[in-house]
Amino acid sequence: MDPKQKTDDRGDVFAGFRSTFKSFATEAIHVGQEPEQWKSMAVVPPISLSTTFKQHGPGNHAGFEYSRSGNPTRNCLEKAVAALDGAKYSLALASGLAATVTITHMLKTGDGIVCMDDVYGGTNRYFQRIATEVGLEVSFADCTKPELVKAALKPNTKLVWIETPTNPTMKVVDIKACSDLIHEHNKDIVVVVDNTFMSAYFQRPLALGADICMYSATKYMNGHSDVVMGLVSTNRDDLNERLRFLQNALGGVPSPFDCFLCNRGLKTLHLRMERHFKNAMGAAKFLEADPRVERVIFPGLPSHPQHEVMKKQCTGCPGMITFYIKGTLEHASTFLSNLKIFAIAESLGGYESLAEHPAIMTHASVPEKERCLLGISDTLIRLSVGLEDEADIIADLEQALAAAHPMKN
Ligand SMILES: Cc1ncc(COP(=O)(O)O)c(C=O)c1O
Repeated sequence: MDPKQKTDDRGDVFAGFRSTFKSFATEAIHVGQEPEQWKSMAVVPPISLSTTFKQHGPGNHAGFEYSRSGNPTRNCLEKAVAALDGAKYSLALASGLAATVTITHMLKTGDGIVCMDDVYGGTNRYFQRIATEVGLEVSFADCTKPELVKAALKPNTKLVWIETPTNPTMKVVDIKACSDLIHEHNKDIVVVVDNTFMSAYFQRPLALGADICMYSATKYMNGHSDVVMGLVSTNRDDLNERLRFLQNALGGVPSPFDCFLCNRGLKTLHLRMERHFKNAMGAAKFLEADPRVERVIFPGLPSHPQHEVMKKQCTGCPGMITFYIKGTLEHASTFLSNLKIFAIAESLGGYESLAEHPAIMTHASVPEKERCLLGISDTLIRLSVGLEDEADIIADLEQALAAAHPMKN
């Protein structure tokens, strides 16, 4: 048996997935947090609110000059994230979209971007309605199909943007196969993986051949639905240099308080992700067996088309489930309105369960024609399964389904 495929001691749902990354929890708790870096020897990194730092003489400073270009609390977070991504470098930005914009600013007018066809609605909106306005060429391709990626690559392609699993239809891209194919075509194309759905605990895109791993840290990385933030990691010196310049020059940086909170969130990332997976597996199995549900899309289930890819490249599955309820928009609305534990809300990846209607909410900015092609229909519902008790989560889904479909069909 491939040692990476062995079942570890995290429980049955993890059977067949890769083993956890070595010392993940230890690094999450200790890297970048050394008490010796503070005169006070504080065990928990202080929130450095100062916008400026005294210099011994002009240009002779102790590592910090001005808080946009560098901040001690942000430093702690960036070091921890780099360790968790298996990266040399990591940078924190003001939001996931600020991270996307900062990365895209590495390109010049006339350069081309190939983007996964199903991505977060805001990423789609940024590429289609803003990046194109400043002379970037953007095309979309289903990166689960190598031949379509190959066909989309042009001489001016500089960036390929992959999201896996995709939001909201949960398509899973084989990161290694895709990155190898792109780099064989042209080693200079920068492959970016939006790792928001997975978090660093379940997937390491850089080890699979991507050049940049980015997150909306607003989701699982912070995990408490109280911070909006983006993170970007890379192993490449040249990309780090350019991104660090852009982080300061564009200025989309997070506040020290947000850095403190996200840094704190990372300390329990491994525990949270395992529980998200266990709860989501229970909910997905329940929904799949229910006659009021048309189809469940959850990469942890063998019914998912890329379940084997998921097991090969990930150490587990996040709490994201997409499903089609039987019936019409009215059934979907009634189901959502009757949920009691799940809140109807955008976003995902927090400790609390959330449910949403992508066509009306998160993906309303995707043109209707494209939504239809992608399967983002009126009966599609997205769940972010939280950390509550599994039995209560399932009971909530059951009673909301019963409200939507009073008679089982
Ligand atoms: C997969 C994904 N990427 C990027 C973003 C954008 O992140 P933010 O909302 O932090 O700007 C989101 C937000 O929902 C997302 O789900």
